[in-house]
Amino acid sequence: RRLEKFVDELPDMPRLRGYGVTEGGALVAGNLTIGMYDTTWKFHRDLPATRVFAYGASREAATVPGPTIEAMRGVPTHVTWANHLPASHFLPWDPTLATAAAAGARGVPTVVHLHGGVQHSSSDGHSLAWFTAGLAATGPRFSRPPYAYPNRQPPGNLWYHDHAMGLTRVNILAGLMGAYRVVSPGEEAPLNLPSGEAFDRNLVLFDRDFRADGALFMNRTGNNPDVHPQWQPEYFGSVVVVNGKAWPYLRVRRRRYRFRILNASNARFFRLSLSGGLRFVHVGSDSVYLARPVATEKFLVAPSEIADVVVDFAESSAGAAVLSNDAPAPYPGDPGDKAEPVAVMKFLIEDATTEPDTSAVPASLMPHYPRPDAREAAATRRITMYEYTKNGTDEPTHLYLNARSYMDPVTETPREGTSEVWEVINLTDDNHPLHVHLALFAVLEQRSLRRVDEFRDCMVRRNDAGACGMGRHLAGGRRHVVPPQERGWKNVFKVRPSAVTRILVRFKPLASDDASPEEDSRFPFDVTTGPGYVYHCHILDHEDNEMMRPMKIVR
Ligand code: C2O
Ligand code: CU
Repeated sequence: RRLEKFVDELPDMPRLRGYGVTEGGALVAGNLTIGMYDTTWKFHRDLPATRVFAYGASREAATVPGPTIEAMRGVPTHVTWANHLPASHFLPWDPTLATAAAAGARGVPTVVHLHGGVQHSSSDGHSLAWFTAGLAATGPRFSRPPYAYPNRQPPGNLWYHDHAMGLTRVNILAGLMGAYRVVSPGEEAPLNLPSGEAFDRNLVLFDRDFRADGALFMNRTGNNPDVHPQWQPEYFGSVVVVNGKAWPYLRVRRRRYRFRILNASNARFFRLSLSGGLRFVHVGSDSVYLARPVATEKFLVAPSEIADVVVDFAESSAGAAVLSNDAPAPYPGDPGDKAEPVAVMKFLIEDATTEPDTSAVPASLMPHYPRPDAREAAATRRITMYEYTKNGTDEPTHLYLNARSYMDPVTETPREGTSEVWEVINLTDDNHPLHVHLALFAVLEQRSLRRVDEFRDCMVRRNDAGACGMGRHLAGGRRHVVPPQERGWKNVFKVRPSAVTRILVRFKPLASDDASPEEDSRFPFDVTTGPGYVYHCHILDHEDNEMMRPMKIVR
């Protein structure tokens, strides 16, 4: 039975304020308690309620995605994340992966990462800092609640999601994710972008499959079952869900809207376009505003990427516009590859003339952030992506960074206050969205590897840059254009297959001080202590199977 499209209205998730206001009007730190609940959610009018794990201020208020947290720049938000989940998971997790659950504990291990957040590592949601209901069992790097988010970072879009070792793909699939904004009225109001709850909306996109009884469907048999009985290299669903509704509609006026679009899928890329000649004007990417707006007709968002766009429905005279996706899945290397467009959601454009639209997109947004300059790099590192298959098949068994497992000792030890060039060498056939915790990075260039097959074979066999003639293969390949809306400071980038992607990673805050736009070289907390940080591929099925490495910041 096919689900009918555009029958459910797009919900706005509950909003929680991450700060307090005194009677005198002063802003003070906010204290939130957000629970994780075993509950149900209606994804579609004609689908029975679905069992989910959901975040909420209470069980009754729990939603998929969870509440949108609005934090104020420079005002701390403290969140006590409380696990109220049952003794076991309802989705198949794979006991042969290195997982939190392998500890043999009862309960569903969870831990929350604020993606894009600049916070001490004890509040960063390290994958080994997991805990089960009532803290009955805790991981080896657990730290006591609450988590502290200083919000001493530029305004922009973040999100929070589960990050438990080896369980992230099933915990997020079950519903554990939500949006988080850092706002800064003093800097943002003068931009005069569309604002207010009606005109400034979060859109959280993901794909799922459902059974007729409404249950989430996930294949219980692995692609390589004698190695991993359940693990699949990528989860794809045929239903597109926005803010928890399958193919929803939204009534809009013929005016400008701001949409903060997050791809919260496990593995699906979305290449989005609008019908009726409507365009997107990008104002931010991931957690940072762009220097200047960039208009596109189509753009690609990988898992965990955020596109902050303005759409002016006055540019169309049609009564409706459909947002659709034509990215193939899995997402391959050649951006020319196209799939049949699939609808994501529909906008019903109403003419009712009420108040005029006084919002705008200014020619200049946040031009004062430093520009990436590779000459300031204190070090160059190589991060090589590998996929391992079983003899004689193309079916992957695991994915490694630098030929090391996640639990191997730390090798990335950047110094606080410096920047580094990372040459990310992708020897696989897939595009992997690379995410670095704490740091922001900018893409310097992306080039195809030369004679990649020979190089891959040598590296998979020997993992020896010298013996495999790394230099010969990295230089001189075809250069790929980085889309203009992705040239600013980001926390995720799509690492093209069979290519080297050079990024400049900042291990220092970006404009951390509200009072001055000057760059500080120290974070506002001790980055060298605590469980440490990680970097990883953000295809959840990959990060759960070892495509993640620890990172220790030193002074
Ligand atoms: Cu959005 Cu380490 O993750
Ligand atoms: Cu990956």
